[in-house]
Amino acid sequence: MKKNTIIISSLIIILFIVGLVLLLSKKEEVTDDNILYSVNFGNVVLRFKHVDDAIGQNQIVTVEKSMDNGKTFETITDGQVIVSLEPKFIFLNEQLGFAVKKSNNSKDNGKYYGMYVTNDGGKTFNLSEINYDNPNIEILTITSVPYFDNGKLILPCSIYQVKEDLSGYENVAIYFVSNDNGLTWNIDENIKESDIVNKVNVTINGNTYVANLEENETVNSFLNLLPSEFNMSELNGNEKYIYLDNKLTSNPVSVKHINKGDIMLYGDNCLVIFYKSFDTSYSYTKIGHIDNLDDLGNSSVLVKIEKWYNKDVKGENIMSKILVSYFSATGNTKNVAEKVAKVVDGDLFEIEPVNKYTEEDLDWTKKESRSSIEMKNNVKPEIVSKISNLDNYDTICLAFPIWWYKEPTIIDKFLEENDLTGKNIYVFVTSGSSTIDSTYRSLQNNFPNLNFVSGKRFTGNERDEEYKDWIK
Ligand SMILES: Cc1cc2nc3c(=O)[nH]c(=O)nc-3n(C[C@H](O)[C@H](O)[C@H](O)COP(=O)(O)O)c2cc1C
Repeated sequence: MKKNTIIISSLIIILFIVGLVLLLSKKEEVTDDNILYSVNFGNVVLRFKHVDDAIGQNQIVTVEKSMDNGKTFETITDGQVIVSLEPKFIFLNEQLGFAVKKSNNSKDNGKYYGMYVTNDGGKTFNLSEINYDNPNIEILTITSVPYFDNGKLILPCSIYQVKEDLSGYENVAIYFVSNDNGLTWNIDENIKESDIVNKVNVTINGNTYVANLEENETVNSFLNLLPSEFNMSELNGNEKYIYLDNKLTSNPVSVKHINKGDIMLYGDNCLVIFYKSFDTSYSYTKIGHIDNLDDLGNSSVLVKIEKWYNKDVKGENIMSKILVSYFSATGNTKNVAEKVAKVVDGDLFEIEPVNKYTEEDLDWTKKESRSSIEMKNNVKPEIVSKISNLDNYDTICLAFPIWWYKEPTIIDKFLEENDLTGKNIYVFVTSGSSTIDSTYRSLQNNFPNLNFVSGKRFTGNERDEEYKDWIK
């Protein structure tokens, strides 16, 4: 009897250990290491994920899509996409994406096939055809992912060719443009390196930001290093830094104050990104600034910096999108926000409180309910996330229910956390019966620097045209 008990307990322990090992190894499979690239479009997240290794220094990748700001993902690629071990990825909007499968490409009948393109958000991929039939050139290097500039879809490449004075070889930048959403590319001799806009894309731990650059010699020498990836170390709880291999032209000045998002050069080769604001006695050369940088945490970060690809530019099939951001406690505003987003083909962003409102919280007949206290004492609840890609939008639609004739305090928190300066803001509310007037005045008073274009009260029973005509 005793022996049996020992055997059974031993078996249970072994089963438990095996279970634990299985669970841990399963967890390992879904670590972020497998995520090679990720980008947000409102609440939609698209990411490239490593699935398996493939023969000849290659790997298999798929696209995963989330409709709920990254909470849940589904795999959407049909079949397999095979790229090199050091590929480059980009989604320029929810449909159009690229996977540069190999940077250096050999010629095949006057064409190069180094890049995949998807026009259906990552479901299917086709090989892009780059036409460059130069008899003196065998290898074409794709230097960066494609980007939009003034409606033109541009692919930056380089060739290694004999110098004009025959004194040796040099790398020369050449640019290709595509008029069919990236399927075929032809050289555009009119684009010069100097035309490239003074912005860069900075991807930090998978989140992509746009940095505006200063106009100085340091920036010019910095641009020569791009695209680059840096493993930046943590310092003092406010900055990430790396010592570059190359020295840059520098002109340090005593900046006195650091703003969160500043990108600076310390000395002539230390690149620094600040994620806190503070006063300083040190001197730096300014490189640029990221507007909506998040807290970067206390460990080192992987930072990818590439020349800018412009998602704002209106071109064929590419519209500057409207972001419909909404707060809704009981669903009325959400219902209208979804209709508005559909009609204007906008992206949705939910202003979601960390602690959801219960029915009790919303009881406006009770002085001690959460909503009554928040509104009376101006208590602003925490919000789950900030908009990560504000640069994509010129027009923001802001929607919420009227609470006590004004905006719920969570809206003030939202406007404090997300810098909408310079954006066209269209406000709409739902309410029991109140008009928007006092609420709109309250917003204008609380945020005098913001550009509120128009305010409306909707019920959800409006015709589509009414929403469309309102946001022009
Ligand atoms: C705390 C609280 C205060 C409210 N104050 C007003 C008000 O001042 N005027 C009004 O017409 N409706 C008021 N309402 C009603 C809401 O504005 C209305 O039900 C709205 O459509 C709810 O939107 P939601 O479902 O998106 O949360 C209030 C509701 C709550 C919960």
